[in-house]
Amino acid sequence: MADTVTLPAEDQIREALKGVIDPELKRSVVELGMVRSVVIAENGHVAVKISLTTGGCPLKGTFTTDTNERVMAVEGVASVDVTFDVLSPEEKDALKKKLGMPGGLPTGALAKIGSILCIGSGKGGVGKSSLTSNLAVALAQEGKSVGVLDADVWGYSIPRMFGLGGQKPPVNAERKIVPLEAHGVKVMSIGFFVDEDSAVVWRGPMLHKALAQFLQDVDWGDLDFLLIDLPPGTGDVSMTLAQLVPQSEFVLVTTPQDTAQKVARRAAEMADKVSIPVAGVIENMAGFVTPGGERFEIFGKGGGQALADEIDVPLLGSVPITMPLREQADAGEPIVSVNPDDPASQAIRSAARGLVAMAPVRVQPAPEPIGLSLPMAG
Ligand SMILES: Nc1ncnc2c1ncn2[C@@H]1O[C@H](COP(=O)(O)OP(=O)(O)OP(=O)(O)O)[C@@H](O)[C@H]1O
Ligand SMILES: [Mg+2]
Repeated sequence: MADTVTLPAEDQIREALKGVIDPELKRSVVELGMVRSVVIAENGHVAVKISLTTGGCPLKGTFTTDTNERVMAVEGVASVDVTFDVLSPEEKDALKKKLGMPGGLPTGALAKIGSILCIGSGKGGVGKSSLTSNLAVALAQEGKSVGVLDADVWGYSIPRMFGLGGQKPPVNAERKIVPLEAHGVKVMSIGFFVDEDSAVVWRGPMLHKALAQFLQDVDWGDLDFLLIDLPPGTGDVSMTLAQLVPQSEFVLVTTPQDTAQKVARRAAEMADKVSIPVAGVIENMAGFVTPGGERFEIFGKGGGQALADEIDVPLLGSVPITMPLREQADAGEPIVSVNPDDPASQAIRSAARGLVAMAPVRVQPAPEPIGLSLPMAG
């Protein structure tokens, strides 16, 4: 029996698979619970099945190469076969929970916030920050308590849009940072803490820590809505937020052109990957309305509706380009606050009403049951 080859054990294969890292979720497929099965045949052939979050996952190639490499390195393995299936909705939920746990916020940290909405686009300059600030003011006008968290740690513009540039938030007796308030909205931004001109390099763990702190160590109080202004792109910040606040939702901003819509669709795919639902789409820069009321479709038409249809969510609004919106943003006065009748304000206010209609009913502490609280006999 001298030439008997010892077959590898399943444990060894699973150990080796810990080296296969999901490039986007930055964790091993083992830790993520994505290894569906490992089958070892008598001849040393190993079949590994990996479960992906979406069938069309563009990372299949990477997973195949990495799995091959890692498993082949285990003694006794003659060949490897990698196949894929898709996680069930329940498994995706479990994955989402898992992503929310380690390094995530303790449950309860944000218990007093009704809806957390991340305003993103995947693309720069489409009006995320303008919409975030104006939607926030519009929601406040609807009688809601609202906070804005500026998660654009690299290119923060929220302080300026609220006219809060150069101010510093105080710290309260519980050593929590108190958000600044403007136009009835609580505002927090990294811009309050760094020099206007200093380049901040926030990456990986530092970024995670900074955002965790803004969610946890800020005295947000009771909020109906927390709007989070995302930086352009679908990268680090979205990932981090998905981990920190898995209960959040996305609002996608697109301009009417095809290209912007394509980029926004990538953002939607990213959201799907981390199991963050998309609440709706807002089309911005949808035509130019002259002060006289004449309308020009500068960037074409219909991109917002097309994207909304494609990912099967409502189009919450179609906001035209108006001069006052930009002028007021530059002046630190959100347009819905100073000119609620501007065509852009009207569209934004209608989008805000849509968000109110869609928001889950706030979970109130259960009232004391009246008349039913009889002591049970026996
Ligand atoms: N509907 C609009 N009408 C007129 N100007 C607008 C409109 N939407 C945005 N703008 C202007 O376009 C510029 C970019 O908008 P904004 O900063 O909100 O985009 P953004 O997506 O947050 O950009 P970034 O990706 O850099 O964070 C700003 O000068 C803003 O005032
Ligand atoms: Mg912005």
